[in-house]
Amino acid sequence: MTFESHDPIHAPQKSSGTTAIASDIKVRTKERTKAHPHPYLSGNFYPVFEETVGDEGIECEVIGTIPESLRGSQYVRTGPNSLNVPKDGAPHHFFDGEGMLHGVYFEPGVEGEPVRARYMNRWVRSEVFLKANDHGQMMMSLGRIMGPACGFLGFILGILWYRIKHAFTRLKSVGNGNTALAFFGSRLLALQEAGKPVETSVPSLNTTGDYYFEEENVKEHEKNTKKGPKQEICTAHPKIDPKTGELVFFSYRMSHPFAYYSVVSADGKRLVWEEPIPGIQKSIMMHDFAITSTYSM
Ligand SMILES: [Fe+2]
Repeated sequence: MTFESHDPIHAPQKSSGTTAIASDIKVRTKERTKAHPHPYLSGNFYPVFEETVGDEGIECEVIGTIPESLRGSQYVRTGPNSLNVPKDGAPHHFFDGEGMLHGVYFEPGVEGEPVRARYMNRWVRSEVFLKANDHGQMMMSLGRIMGPACGFLGFILGILWYRIKHAFTRLKSVGNGNTALAFFGSRLLALQEAGKPVETSVPSLNTTGDYYFEEENVKEHEKNTKKGPKQEICTAHPKIDPKTGELVFFSYRMSHPFAYYSVVSADGKRLVWEEPIPGIQKSIMMHDFAITSTYSM
């Protein structure tokens, strides 16, 4: 995705222009190998452990000329990047792994001079990332509950096991920001299908923290709902209404009413609409949707 970024709060700081394993990372490197047998943990899928030092990133070598229209913008992508690499033979899923952001920032610079680019990367330091770092293990693995040998019973037992594990470790959100990004209300949100959005700074890509759609309003809404809504959860593919700037999204849960449809004000501070989606009789997993001026599909 691309977006404009001139926020002085996030102005780059002095950098050594190198990469290193950050000082807060507790998982040691000796267990890592470039020759992991799993196809999603080797080659281009092998996790990156080093992060760019400082907020400024590393200056990129430019071959040719960067278009003037990119000046002051940033390209950012996210993807699974396991902090704790599973042992050889352990189940693993393509979606497993804490999110890591990679960005190329096209500096505002001086008009008339060539546009310069800087690269930076950061793990999304979500709650689930911090727990995985503290406990030295992945906090949720789809590979362990959805592998070919699991079956339905294995899936149910796996879910129960993770529920216990999350209660024991006091993990409240499995949102690891590894699936998609949304730039909304002057925030860059790192998203995953079933967790809280995680707010990050641009262009540094440092993590700000879990993002709530106006906490006070959430509490007010919970008073009127049987079990309390899950509106702090947002799937990975929200849509921004091009006319109002509002964020439109759905979310789902494992108990009735299974799914909600929600709208957040353009400034990102107020939940203006939320209703259960009618007609859903069981827990589901929905990926993406589209909106028009009158329908959401
Ligand atoms: Fe998705």
